[in-house]
Amino acid sequence: MANTPPHLLLVATGGTIAGRAAHAEDNLGYRAGELGVAELVAAVPALAGVPLRTLQLAQIDSKDMSHALWQALVRLLAAELARDEVVGVVITHGTDTLEETAFFLQRVLAPAKPVVLTAAMRPATSLQADGPQNLVDAVTVARTPGARGVLLAFAGQVHAGDEVRKVDAYRLQAFDSAPAGPVALVEEGRVLPLRPWPQGQALGAALCDWPLARWPRVAWITSHAGFDAALVDAAVAAGFDGLVLAGTGNGTLHAELEAAADRAAQAGVALRLSTRCASGRVVGDLARSRAASAESSAAQARVALLLDLLAKAATPSTPSSISA
Ligand code: SIN
Repeated sequence: MANTPPHLLLVATGGTIAGRAAHAEDNLGYRAGELGVAELVAAVPALAGVPLRTLQLAQIDSKDMSHALWQALVRLLAAELARDEVVGVVITHGTDTLEETAFFLQRVLAPAKPVVLTAAMRPATSLQADGPQNLVDAVTVARTPGARGVLLAFAGQVHAGDEVRKVDAYRLQAFDSAPAGPVALVEEGRVLPLRPWPQGQALGAALCDWPLARWPRVAWITSHAGFDAALVDAAVAAGFDGLVLAGTGNGTLHAELEAAADRAAQAGVALRLSTRCASGRVVGDLARSRAASAESSAAQARVALLLDLLAKAATPSTPSSISA
C-alpha cells in the first residue's frame, strides 16, 4: 500500500493470553479466547507508540485448532509478508497446539521476516498474568534487525518454531526446544541472540490451497501397555492416509501395534515412527515399513507427515495426484 509506514502486524487467534476468569486468583476456571486484540494491546502500556496494525483472525481455545484456520493463516501471512511495509508479524495463540502451528508455518513459509508467536499460561485477569510481558517480548523480537523465521517468544526465551515443544501443563516456563535450546533470550527489552535465526526451504503457501476436504488424514497413535490393535485397524478402515506411531522408547512398539502397523503399511497407509518420550527423537533406522521421523516430537511428526502427503497429493506430476 502506497505511503503506509513500516509497521508490525499483530494477529490474534485466542488462547489463554486472551482468557478471562471471574476472579484474579483463579488461574484455571477461565475461558480462553475472550479478550479481543484491541484489549490485549490496551493492557500493555509499553506498546503505545509501537507502529502496530491489529487483526483478529480467530478467537479460539487452541485445543480446537483446525486445518482450516492454518490454511487461512498461511494465506494471510503470505499476503502480508509480501508487503514491504510489514516488517514482521506477531501472532497470539493458545499454548496447547502452538508447537504444531509454529512447525507448520515454518515448514510452509520459512519466512525471511520474523513471524513471532506468543502465548500465556495464565489468563489476562490473573494476578500472575504472563501474557503482557510475553507480548512485549514478541514485539521486541519481531522488531529486531536480522530476526527471521517462525519463532516463539515466551517466558524470556525465543525458540525456533520447528523445534519448540510444550513441556509443562501448568508452570509458566512451559516451552523448551531441547537439545539445541533457545535461539535467543529477551532480557529487559534486549534480545540476546544465542544461535542463528531459523532458516529453511519453504514448501510454499500455494501447497495449502489444496481443497481442505482433500487434505490427507493423518493421526497419531501412542504405544502403551496392553495396546489394542483395533484402534489401528479402525483407522485403516476409516481411510486414514498416514499414521504417526509414538513408540515407548527409541521407536519401540507393542507387539500388537507392530503387527497392526504392518497391516496398515500393506494397505498403503504411510507410517512414521516417533517417540512418546518427553525429549529426544528416534535414532537409527528401525523398521522396514516405518521411517523414523526426523522431528523430535510426535506432534511435529504428524504435521511433517501431513505436509509430505499434502505435497504428494497436490503435485500434478505425482502419480498419486488427485485432480482438484
Ligand atoms: C489454548 O491453548 O488456547 C488454551 C491454553 C493456553 O493457551 O495455555
